[in-house]
Amino acid sequence: MSLHHNALETHDSSWPGPGGPQDIFAKEDPDWPLPRIVRGDDIYLFDEAGNRFIDFSSGPVASNLGHNNRRVIEAIKEQAEKLCFAQSRVARTNENIDLADALAQVAGPGYERAFFVSGGSEAIDTAVKFSRQWAYARGELNRTRMVSLMPSYHGGLISTLGLGGDEVPIEVFRDMTVVSEKIDAPLTYRPPEGMTQEENEDRILADFAETLDRVGPEKVLAFIFEPVGGVASGANVLSNRFLKSIRQTCNAHGILMIADEVMAGAGRTGSFLASAHTPDGKPDLVVLAKGIGAGYTPLGIMLAPASMVDELARLTGYPYGHTAAANPLSCAIGLAALQETLERDLIGNAARVGAYLQQQLMGLADECPVIGDVRGRGLLLGTEIVADPVTKRSFSGEISAPDRIRRIAFDHGLTIYGRRTNNGRFGDALMSSPPLITTMEQVDEMVAGFGAAVKDFMDEAVRLGAKIG
Ligand SMILES: Cc1ncc(COP(=O)(O)O)c(C=O)c1O
Repeated sequence: MSLHHNALETHDSSWPGPGGPQDIFAKEDPDWPLPRIVRGDDIYLFDEAGNRFIDFSSGPVASNLGHNNRRVIEAIKEQAEKLCFAQSRVARTNENIDLADALAQVAGPGYERAFFVSGGSEAIDTAVKFSRQWAYARGELNRTRMVSLMPSYHGGLISTLGLGGDEVPIEVFRDMTVVSEKIDAPLTYRPPEGMTQEENEDRILADFAETLDRVGPEKVLAFIFEPVGGVASGANVLSNRFLKSIRQTCNAHGILMIADEVMAGAGRTGSFLASAHTPDGKPDLVVLAKGIGAGYTPLGIMLAPASMVDELARLTGYPYGHTAAANPLSCAIGLAALQETLERDLIGNAARVGAYLQQQLMGLADECPVIGDVRGRGLLLGTEIVADPVTKRSFSGEISAPDRIRRIAFDHGLTIYGRRTNNGRFGDALMSSPPLITTMEQVDEMVAGFGAAVKDFMDEAVRLGAKIG
């Protein structure tokens, strides 16, 4: 299937007058204007000329329920009529209490309390701040250091850029952010030459122990990780074995584990929490965002055990907040989205449809040798693009495969999320993460469009002088 989306040609990415859309802040790319989206329905987005695009990555892995979900829209209307705002330090609201209660039930023991903020980065910042307050209140004044994985991503605030494993923004903000200790992420597609996956994990676990020795384990506050990665690692999956060992080391030294499930949580991986797939590495705190608001509202959440929250409340408390924290409108939307997810068994659907999508994308590799790997869990999949599937060599600097394919895909009726991180040092991946409502038939439609885009990319790469294979 190849659709022609001629409306793209009527828009420039530069903007002639004042104002303009958000993307004009990014590096100018006049050859590749973005579509102007005016409407969404089911897994589809429509531009002003009526062209239809499959939302192949759920925006940036957020629109779990697709678009135009009636239950959520009714909840928005009803709540907007009733109460839009009451600040959480000034008043309690039913919407805050109801969503916290529902989350405690679905997240299970160990995650009885929920702290609500406005998005993923803010929720990560909250989890780090909460961890520090917990250490401080208990007299562990030296605990300030964080350990994270390279590559990884934990948000775009100055506080979280240093925590993440993308060297590009860290270079810009090095003197302004707190750069964490980094250990290698055990990349399943790219273990060092000659090493098995387990040998690579053991190498990294030994490095973790050495890092703690060097820093002083009593100074380490927390280890933060994505159970299934996002763009930075192309949905790399951490094993139960790896996280079990990290858990044991953290327990031995009183170090907390924070699971960044901003992308992976809320059912996308086939269980409500992605951490449930790795039960021996159970985190102390879990951070949710994106899918929990399903794209209908800005919402980020830190889940924490009642034991920690209640003990801390008896000591110093956690006395920080934001104006929009636990916003009743956002909480009502979050509750409607959660109920929809549970009642329609969209978590089970993510597991089933995700397995089929992974299989179909792998099948494309026969015709498209640049598809090196398709990995992830449920409907959180990453497709790695390589110039050579045998050596796993990536495309060179000038050809950013994720950016090129993302743009070409518009012509085949798909919007895709993916960008080059770490200057492509760990490979180039695109997110294959459609809404959790996706059907098997829709998978066939999206794989046909994606395959056509990848084939066009291969032709273009050859034209630009790249050698494939
Ligand atoms: C794993 C992960 N953590 C944190 C964030 C930051 O979330 P937000 O963009 O909502 O601030 C993201 C966003 O892409 C993410 O993928």
